[in-house]
Amino acid sequence: MTKGTPHIQPNGTKIAKTVLMPGDPLRAKYIADNYLEDVVQFNEVRNMFGYTGTYKGKEVSVMGSGMGIPSIGIYSYELYNTFDVDTIIRVGSCGALQEDVNLYDIIIAQGASTNSSYVDQYNIPGHFAPLGDFDLMVKAKKAADELGATTHVGNVLSSDTFYNADPTFNDQWHRMGILGIEMESAGLYLNATYAGKKALGIFTVSDHILRDEATTAEERQNSFTQMMEIALEIA
Ligand code: HPA
Repeated sequence: MTKGTPHIQPNGTKIAKTVLMPGDPLRAKYIADNYLEDVVQFNEVRNMFGYTGTYKGKEVSVMGSGMGIPSIGIYSYELYNTFDVDTIIRVGSCGALQEDVNLYDIIIAQGASTNSSYVDQYNIPGHFAPLGDFDLMVKAKKAADELGATTHVGNVLSSDTFYNADPTFNDQWHRMGILGIEMESAGLYLNATYAGKKALGIFTVSDHILRDEATTAEERQNSFTQMMEIALEIA
């Protein structure tokens, strides 16, 4: 039995090879309650709830990541390196940063640009481009197309700031073709790459940064369902 870490204490409860990670631990509970069967809870340290169950007979875990790269950095590191998890699929929301990306669309993060210094720990002599797993990405796009979802595949920004003091910040990233802004995927992709594991970020668009639009909780549910069906299909 794998000993626990400071942040994940399964006490003998199994963690699956594939883990879905929403930011919010109560979202993890919602996913376990509504999508998985035979659910057991494997973590409650800091209320960062984690659950293992089955989806169409496949064993899958789901756990909150918290907000920001330092938080998902800790949890994904421990899942990959201590608990031998192979694949982490981040399921989250993001703010759209292009005109042709609309509320409720699905974004698949091929790459995750960032203003975070997380990558500095590897002492790479240049600028590394954190990428999602190609096979997972192809499968996710196929699953999204089969569901009839409007999907965009490309670069997201994993920002360290939700509130940025520089008024040109969004414009500059918009100019570079960033589809949407979230706060975790670059850390996840870096940890996956360094551990030789797989990761992918899939998002629903919860707000539009250029057009100052936001969704209501009720309206978000449909695109959330599509995102979950894609993630579970490829899990
Ligand atoms: N910025 C950063 N993270 C987000 C946003 C945003 O606008 N929307 C959802 N997650």
